[in-house]
Amino acid sequence: MSHPLSRLARRVAYASTQLPRMAWYAGHLYMMRRLAEQARQEERERPRPKPRSDPRLDQRLNGDMAALLEQDLANVEAGVYPLPADHDGSLLTLLERSRLFFRDLPEVHARRKRNATREVRNAKTRGLRPDYYLQNFHFQSDGWLTEESADRYDTQVEVLFKGTANAMRRQALPPLAEAFAGRDQRKLRLIDIGCGTGRFIDFVKQVWPRLPTLGLDLSEAYIRHARRHLKRWSRVNLLVANAEAIPAPDNSCDAVTSIFMLHELPPKVRRTVMGEAARVLKSGGRLILMDSLQLGDEPDYDGMLERFPQLYHEPYYKSYLREDFPAIARRCGLAHRHDIKAYVSKVMVFDKNAAS
Ligand SMILES: C[S@@+](CC[C@H](N)C(=O)[O-])C[C@H]1O[C@@H](n2cnc3c(N)ncnc32)[C@H](O)[C@@H]1O
Repeated sequence: MSHPLSRLARRVAYASTQLPRMAWYAGHLYMMRRLAEQARQEERERPRPKPRSDPRLDQRLNGDMAALLEQDLANVEAGVYPLPADHDGSLLTLLERSRLFFRDLPEVHARRKRNATREVRNAKTRGLRPDYYLQNFHFQSDGWLTEESADRYDTQVEVLFKGTANAMRRQALPPLAEAFAGRDQRKLRLIDIGCGTGRFIDFVKQVWPRLPTLGLDLSEAYIRHARRHLKRWSRVNLLVANAEAIPAPDNSCDAVTSIFMLHELPPKVRRTVMGEAARVLKSGGRLILMDSLQLGDEPDYDGMLERFPQLYHEPYYKSYLREDFPAIARRCGLAHRHDIKAYVSKVMVFDKNAAS
């Protein structure tokens, strides 16, 4: 048991990093909504019918957000992971990211208005990436294809989740700790598919600095960004690769993770990717998928989840909401263990060839 004073110091340290972070991104969200409203007025557009405000839903969301932070801190106190370092960079870096974010908003607004979702599919890109990938997801500028998109991504995600995206990602660490308990990290292998800018791998390395870790992503620009972000760590390999064909031998790896990616894949590709994860896992290995809640997980949220793709271009989200992941996993030889809810997301845990 830790001394009550060190417990208090830990709580203060946690609050002093996480709360200002949340205030920063919640402030961005507030400003973003005001600017969008202003733009609509200037364009003399019919005001978008405001979703009926539902104080009960807001209260539930706030409660679940608080529960996420409590859980994050409880995991630290239980020694599952150290006090998290979000590695957001200096104040100057944060301001620069903020500038990039706000400067891009008019483009996103215009794209949303035109419902322009395929700008990145052109003569130069066609054939270089799968067709489903060449889209302006969330009406983002440049799709997944440029340095600028990679530089904006983390701000965009944190703004969407009011500064809790990293805390949600960290909820994938406890089932990983369970799988790795008592084992020599240097002899284990982890693959994170669709690793993006590397934020989840950063948290993995904060717990297991000597764990050989492979991050895969289809975007060259995001992989370059991840290399810069993760340069403080050794034993990290980052590759441009398609999760539909994971560049690893059969039965070679102890854990596969994927964070916030599955909702962006068409149903057929989701199945291929889960089959690939199952193929590269050793017997007894663990697959951890973290993504949005689905319909029925929290019935109060169903309406909000159904509305989400109307504002953000998410062509496969509707099918994601109804996807039966345990059934897909079963067909790949993976047994569904349990889910962990984390605010508006959840972590799904599967084991290969495990007696259920
Ligand atoms: C919403 S982002 C999530 C990124 C990151 N995991 C995170 O925690 O933020 C989805 C990522 O999946 C990548 N992606 C999409 N389809 C892919 C595929 N078939 N193979 C590899 N990466 C893919 C995209 O390039 C993008 O970086």
